[in-house]
Amino acid sequence: MPMNRDAIPTVLRCAVTSRELPASPQQDDQPLDVERLREGFPALQERFDGAPAVFLDGPGGTQAHASVITAMTDYFVRRNSNTHGCFATSERTDAVIDAARRAGADLLGCDPDEVVFGANMTSLTMALSRSLGASALGPGDEIVVTRLDHDANVAPWLLVAEDIGARVRWIELDPRDCTLDLESARRAITPRTKIVALGYASNLSGTVNDLELLTRWAHDVGALVYVDAVQLAPHRLIDVRALDCDFLVCSAYKFFGPHVGMLYGRRALLQPELRSREGAAPRLRAYAVRPADQRWETGTQNHEGLAGATAAIDYLASLGGHGDAAPRRARLARAFQRIAAHERRLVDALLDGLADIPGARVYGITEPAGRDRRVATVSLRIGALAPSTMARALAEHNIFCWDGDFFAVEPTRALGFADDGGFLRIGAVHYNTVAEVERCVGVIAALARRESA
Ligand SMILES: Cc1ncc(COP(=O)(O)O)c(C=O)c1O
Repeated sequence: MPMNRDAIPTVLRCAVTSRELPASPQQDDQPLDVERLREGFPALQERFDGAPAVFLDGPGGTQAHASVITAMTDYFVRRNSNTHGCFATSERTDAVIDAARRAGADLLGCDPDEVVFGANMTSLTMALSRSLGASALGPGDEIVVTRLDHDANVAPWLLVAEDIGARVRWIELDPRDCTLDLESARRAITPRTKIVALGYASNLSGTVNDLELLTRWAHDVGALVYVDAVQLAPHRLIDVRALDCDFLVCSAYKFFGPHVGMLYGRRALLQPELRSREGAAPRLRAYAVRPADQRWETGTQNHEGLAGATAAIDYLASLGGHGDAAPRRARLARAFQRIAAHERRLVDALLDGLADIPGARVYGITEPAGRDRRVATVSLRIGALAPSTMARALAEHNIFCWDGDFFAVEPTRALGFADDGGFLRIGAVHYNTVAEVERCVGVIAALARRESA
């Protein structure tokens, strides 16, 4: 029987619509078809006071792809249960979790048993840092954190250091372009270092850090490397094996999925019974109830969120254009090449446009030769204009951007704006267009002109 769309709630209408979308929107060897893929994001079709919005708030959270909404709705309709039962919905729930673990492994470049799910990156990091504190740290040991990171990859380590009596050392940022100061990294990483916590991409400046180098330095002194990849995940392919990190975390709501956190842990660390085969590693204490088949996942997971996370990863893979036969990891690799190429155009439009606004100062890499070392997350200030005033003015034009410190507490303080409103942050992802970015820059330019008149 045909469905009367007006009789069902908006969210289900989105889900119905998504079933009618083409399965694979990309052809091989073509740039991203952004106009077409935008049709798959219900929020981009939504009207706010009668007009569509420009979503330049991606670093705070991206819009969900329709297939994600469908998968989550489908979970509740056809699979909703707890795990390991002998009946259909429970068996389907087990399959949803297994599928999510396989999808997470393809996204991160690891094996499914190295993927741990949790509420979000912050909760996973709080839990893991506590385990590392109890297992791998003693008084006088050292933890290295950076001045560029989101507080979710700083505060948990400060708290653990305080609990254990460990010492915290800092990798400073270079305020000229918001890159990490490698000299200070050299000094911070010492033979006493046990953990180095690094951000992959800054949620303030968009800087992509040279983690291969820093991971090597950390491993040279026998330290474990914990990577926050929350801001990199929507923009670039993550490869934990190539990076050789020990842990890496990200969040599906930053890559077009639901609010679910995902952690990679090297097998020898997550599963101590395999230690002897895979080399020396500390026996990590997991804070888990008895019995727990996945020691690192506490309580009942967000099953509908896991179904949505799998759909988000499949959506990203569909941008790879290899067709369904190629392995998902290969399609993801191609997808992220296309995403990076499109986002480079967005970065150029944004930075070149802002460079023409008198008084605008961007905090991050700006010179064209360095722009591949950043993602499309741009924080700025203009003279004495309050960032909140700029964000409100943009919102009046239905352009959604964040202002403040975005929990990048240390960098905002280091740059001198902790008590002065922080920054205006414009964050583009692959569903944004150059026209949207230019519209945003146009509104900011008009504001700047009004301010200086
Ligand atoms: C770089 C970075 N790390 C960590 C987080 C925290 O992620 P979650 O909300 O999943 O805890 C964020 C959120 O904005 C972030 O941008």
